[in-house]
Amino acid sequence: MKSGEAPEQMIVVEDLHRHFGGFRAVDGVSLEIATGSITGLIGPNGAGKSTLFNVIAGVLPPTSGRVTMDGEDITGLAPHQLFHKGLLRTFQIAHEFPSLTVRENLMVVPAAQSGETLWNAWFRRAAIRAEEAALRERADEVLEFLTIGHLAEERAGNLSGGQKKLLELGRTMMVEAKVVFLDEVGAGVNRTLLNTIGDAIVRLNRERGYTFCVIEHDMDFIARLCDPVIVMAEGKVLARGSAAQIMQNEAVIEAYLGTGLKNRAKGGAA
Ligand SMILES: Nc1ncnc2c1ncn2[C@@H]1O[C@H](COP(=O)(O)OP(=O)(O)O)[C@@H](O)[C@H]1O
Ligand SMILES: [Mg+2]
Repeated sequence: MKSGEAPEQMIVVEDLHRHFGGFRAVDGVSLEIATGSITGLIGPNGAGKSTLFNVIAGVLPPTSGRVTMDGEDITGLAPHQLFHKGLLRTFQIAHEFPSLTVRENLMVVPAAQSGETLWNAWFRRAAIRAEEAALRERADEVLEFLTIGHLAEERAGNLSGGQKKLLELGRTMMVEAKVVFLDEVGAGVNRTLLNTIGDAIVRLNRERGYTFCVIEHDMDFIARLCDPVIVMAEGKVLARGSAAQIMQNEAVIEAYLGTGLKNRAKGGAA
């Protein structure tokens, strides 16, 4: 980017809708995720954040609207097609393969994400052996990067919630990702692990040029990592700005007081 020019956009969402029957979970969202940014996405539970991620990542078809990546229309492409373009998402609830080791969980990623299910990939372990050495080396690099090298032989099912989130992030590093969507990476994670996750995101952003869009309720985490921050409420974009601007925005405070704190008090992870 030359100085004075507008930033390049990795993702552009135009007037996106996703309705469930008569309910408008995503109700006309337009936003941009600048190339090279770590963009935050916040909002009370039920705001439509995960649904927006699901539509962008091809898990749900949109009711209407358009999504482009690097200027190319990607609306409605399947997750494995997006995966090949370097668009990855992690889930709010980690979906590791519990009986495989941590290292194996990473080694099956390239096959598992190419349109196969994890189960199929697991049954194809014989075929995977052909590329095993290279995959193994890569997996171990990823684990070192994430400071969990000592857990390589552990069954993934035995990891703590926070370690599973790190593993989830690690899955995005087994391939050449361009833009990664992280849904509540910090949910149920202790402060130390949350900092480790944050550090890994920053390093991936700086050293590997990953663009991120991060949903997270922890505002300290968002403020440390994200610029800009986009706020959603009731299916719409409510505000956009720096974390400092967002935290002083009347409409944002109102939205959180109206529904967010109540829902969060119930302890739901919707
Ligand atoms: N598959 C679905 N069918 C019906 N309603 C849904 C479905 N998925 C999400 N919703 C509703 O859409 C709204 C937004 O949900 P979600 O995107 O998960 O919000 P957030 O991630 O911001 O908490 C919620 O009211 C939720 O109940
Ligand atoms: Mg959600």
